[in-house]
This record gives sequence, C-alpha cells and structure tokens, in this order.
Amino acid sequence: MASQAVCKAQGVVVGALRTSVLARPAPRAGVLAPMYSTKTQVFAPRPMGVRSRKMATVTKASANGAGLNIDLRGKKAFIAGVADDQGFGWAIAKCLAEAGAEISLGVWVPALNIFETSFRRGKFDESRRLSNGSLMEFAHIYPMDAVFDTMDDVPADVKDNKRYAGNEGWTVSECAAKVAKDWGKIDILVHSLANGPEVQKPLLETSRRGYLAAMSASSYSFVSLLQRFGPLMNEGGAVISLTYVAADRVIPGYGGGMSSAKAALESDTKVLAYEAGRKYSVRVNTISAGPLGSRAAKAIGFIDDMIRYSYENAPIQKELAATEVGAVATFLCSPLASAVTGQTVYVDNGLSIMGLAGDSKTLDRANA
Ligand SMILES: NC(=O)c1ccc[n+]([C@@H]2O[C@H](COP(=O)([O-])OP(=O)(O)OC[C@H]3O[C@@H](n4cnc5c(N)ncnc54)[C@H](O)[C@@H]3O)[C@@H](O)[C@H]2O)c1
Repeated sequence: MASQAVCKAQGVVVGALRTSVLARPAPRAGVLAPMYSTKTQVFAPRPMGVRSRKMATVTKASANGAGLNIDLRGKKAFIAGVADDQGFGWAIAKCLAEAGAEISLGVWVPALNIFETSFRRGKFDESRRLSNGSLMEFAHIYPMDAVFDTMDDVPADVKDNKRYAGNEGWTVSECAAKVAKDWGKIDILVHSLANGPEVQKPLLETSRRGYLAAMSASSYSFVSLLQRFGPLMNEGGAVISLTYVAADRVIPGYGGGMSSAKAALESDTKVLAYEAGRKYSVRVNTISAGPLGSRAAKAIGFIDDMIRYSYENAPIQKELAATEVGAVATFLCSPLASAVTGQTVYVDNGLSIMGLAGDSKTLDRANA
C-alpha cells in the first residue's frame, strides 16, 4: 500500500522495543549531561566560566547503530476529524498506530453513519493494514461536532436535524467526558478538521456569518478541544493541529475566512503552547501541510491545480503523501520532540520557502 510504503521509507518506526536516548537516566545534579556520549560531545553544554573549545569533532558515532526509534506503545491518542481514509487525520492515526499508540476517533456527526458503514463493510481494510500485517483498530469511535461546546449551544435546527438523530453526547465537552470515562487519561490530542461554508468566496465577499463559521469550526474548535481534553492529558503529552500556508501568504481561492481561521490557529498554537505547557505540561504544535486531495480539499474546488503547482514549483518535486504528514505528527508526538512546542512545522515539499513560481510564463525567455 502506498501510504504504508511511505511510512516505511520515511523510517517511521514501528513499535520499536529499545529505550530511546531520551529515556536514559537523568544526570547527577551539577553534572552537565552530554547529549550522546562522554567521548563524542555534540552540542554538549559546558559549565559557565570554562573557556569554550572549538566544537568537538565527532570521530566516532556513539549510538549503537540501531537507529532512533519512536515507541508509543501504551500511549493513547484521540484524533478529531477523521471520516474516511483519504485525509490527514487518517494518515496520522495510521502512523501513530505504526508506532504502537492506541487510537480513538472523534467523527463529525453527519459523516459518522457512512464512516461506520464503510468501516464495517471492509472498505478501509486495505488502508488499515499496518506494516506488521495487522489491521489498525480504533479503541472507540465517538460522534462529535467540534462547533458546539455544550448542548446549550446547539440550536433547535441542528438538534432536530435527521443527520444528528440517534446520536447523543457529541458536543466537545460531552465527548471529552466520554473519553475520560472510557480511557481516563490520554497522551496525544490531534485536531484535523476544518470547515468554511463560504470557502469559495473571496474574503472581500464573505459574510459575517460565513467568516465566523469558518473561525468557529476551524480555529475556535481547537481552543475548545484543548480546554476540555487538556485536563485529561498526561504530563509530557502532545497536541497537534493542521494548518495551511494561506495563514500568512495569499492563496487566491482559499476564501470565506479560511485564511483568517488558519492565521488564528497558528497564533493560538503559540499562546496555547505557553498556557497548556504551564498548566498541563503538554506541547502544542501545528503542521502546515502541502496540498492533498482529501475530501475537504476537493470541496474547495482547486486542489488538483494546487497539487500540480506544488509539483512544478516546490524544491522537492513529488506529490505529498498524507503519511509524510503522519510521520512528522508522530515525531512531534514522541519524546524525540520533547523540546519542540508552539511551532508551525511545514511539511510541504518545501513549497512555502519559494518566492518565485519557476513555472511562470513570464520567466520563459522564448516568450519574451
Ligand atoms: N488537504 C489539504 O490540502 C490541506 C492542506 C493543509 C492543511 N489541511 C488541513 O488538514 C486538516 C484535515 O483536512 P483534510 O484535508 O485531511 O480533509 P478531511 O476531509 O480528511 O478532514 C476534515 C475533517 O473535518 C471534519 N469536520 C468538519 N467539520 C467538523 C466539525 N464541526 N466537527 C468535527 N469534525 C468536523 C470532517 O468530517 C472531516 O473528517 C484540516 O484542518 C485542513 O484545513 C489540509
């Protein structure tokens, strides 16, 4: 399977057994710990007042050569925003599962029925296959609508909507209460959802209602999730969301306030990293992903153009695989990233660094 191959090719690790270097015993008080070994110091802190030597040359690798592994066995991850096997949420679930984490999903209520039916009928079986041959399982699948914090927020037309009938306990606070009851604590929280009803309209033509709906579904939902799930998180846990370069560069066509929502999400990532870091000792990062032909992206209408544009203009000329984002999310949720928080991490084949579109007709000298 393509996604599995990428996971392997990326070296995303799969249920590794060894203790990571980060899990070694803490140094004795007053002793500065070199990062890798006492002989080959790389970036080893030195005591104050000692004249620094030139950066020590590494003559011999001190690791045992078996690689740095990500072992998330025993960790519990709640992922909000999976409704099929095509998007980033699924790919993140898959990579976290490859690393051994247990996964529960929060599925948007109107999409839940079709997701569960497809799941039962085996439509996702091929995508569920892990590299050890087993199928990815979900500990729990909860109905969720991240736009509502409590039942008091839900208007009558949604309560009476037949797509919500037969489901209960799907507001963010109720969902968090269910997770607390079923699981107690969690270690990883993933927000992989967005919605902007007027996404096809330029910002200049976006209504107040459409703009606020985009902000509510795509950025406040993240604040709400962390408010309710933060108290359930074990110390050292990690929180991830998904953003897009339209937050700080103009991407015509990504309208309806979605660019504003992503800008808010990136800014909130920093503030929440501070607040949740201090309050719950968890890290908060966001991944700015390159274009992917997910269901949500197809609804915007120009995703194939964006994929082609990226292919032509990014430093790395290949189509982004969702599992490449899953791999980075897994790293960010692992102890290997224990000092990384508040960051927007670009996983986009490098497209975001470009200041010039190499395939622009105006660069074609033959046309000059
Ligand atoms: N596809 C891209 O090109 C791209 C690029 C950068 C960032 N992203 C971001 O990645 C994230 C995941 O999107 P995707 O592209 O993988 O598409 P996707 O369709 O797989 O995921 C979006 C999910 O959001 C859910 N959702 C929508 N409204 C919701 C609500 N009110 N409550 C709960 N769930 C809700 C949908 O059911 C869906 O499962 C989004 O934040 C998106 O903005 C996507």
